[in-house]
Amino acid sequence: MRILIIGANGFIGSNLTQRLLENTDWEIYGMDINTHYLNDYLHHDRFYFTEGDLCINNEWIEYHIKKCDIIIPLVAIAQPKLYVTDPLKVFELDFEQNLKIVRWAHRYKKRLIFPSTSEVYGMCTDESFNEGTSDFVYGPINKTRWIYACSKQLMDRVIFAYGRDYGLRYTCFRPFNWIGPRLDTIESARYGNSRVLTQLITQLLNGKPIQLVNGGHQKRTFTDIEDGLDALLQILTDEASSDKKVFNIGNPNNVCSIEELAEIVRQKYIEVSGKGTNEIPGVETVSEDEFYGSNTGYQDIIHRVPDINLARTKLSWNPSISIEESVKKAVEYFYTHSELPN
Ligand code: UGA
Repeated sequence: MRILIIGANGFIGSNLTQRLLENTDWEIYGMDINTHYLNDYLHHDRFYFTEGDLCINNEWIEYHIKKCDIIIPLVAIAQPKLYVTDPLKVFELDFEQNLKIVRWAHRYKKRLIFPSTSEVYGMCTDESFNEGTSDFVYGPINKTRWIYACSKQLMDRVIFAYGRDYGLRYTCFRPFNWIGPRLDTIESARYGNSRVLTQLITQLLNGKPIQLVNGGHQKRTFTDIEDGLDALLQILTDEASSDKKVFNIGNPNNVCSIEELAEIVRQKYIEVSGKGTNEIPGVETVSEDEFYGSNTGYQDIIHRVPDINLARTKLSWNPSISIEESVKKAVEYFYTHSELPN
């Protein structure tokens, strides 16, 4: 089997590439503008990698869509700070540039595995979000944070229509705050552009207090990347059970507030660094305007829990990795892959 991963160097892309090379005999074709998370695999004899840009290298992409069996387009801006500072870039990359991939997958009759997002549910008040029944709830237009959710949900709708009306073979998956090694970078965290776990670890690496936006009472469902990859592998190998479906992929056992997450990060940082509790910075509250910038259009999601009955039944998927274990792996990774503070 030949798999095309566009955005192979990203968080999901690099971890998926590693898993597929180690656990299958498939050929992996990858493209990305960066290679820093792929250095260990660039010379693997079943990994065919090209450095390239989704917005530019159309010939390469179309050729490889024709050549491969399954197409996984993972290029997207997925960091909230960028939804509020550069919303048009989010629309152009996440929607416009990915639309051509969807259309080529349809034209060449290829199977498409598309990353939707937990964010499509927005501020939905259901106790747990269901793929088939939950409503999507967003703020007004001046809250630019929602451009990511809108772009992703519009693509979900386009893919659904191609599937229903023209037979596109597809599966959409919705990661719920997947975490682990290679989630964004320490470098992007310096500008507040990483997602929360890497952001928190970087604050400690820099000897700074952990910043809790608006006090950190908002909750997320954190899901270990390896659990997420188990679901993806099942989707890849079992088309009959996953065709024309949208799956929430999140671990409902790992619901926690950002304040609680910060405490786990501090504990794991102490274990990994061998430092004393008093040597590790504490936490501080910052307002959303201080963190994301005033007049930027940030709006938060207070509660986000997936209903995963569909993934449980169709994919026999049962996430098992605890948030403590997951955070520890990420802390170890970034601690050993960064310049340490003096
Ligand atoms: C994320 C991103 O939109 C996407 O990566 C993704 O599709 C989706 O949700 C997901 O991973 O399921 P969000 O969970 O809001 O959105 O993103 P984070 O940046 O990880 O922030 C989580 C929470 O932590 C937010 O309330 C944020 O304000 C807070 N935060 C972030 C802090 O309190 N301190 C920080 O230093 C950083």
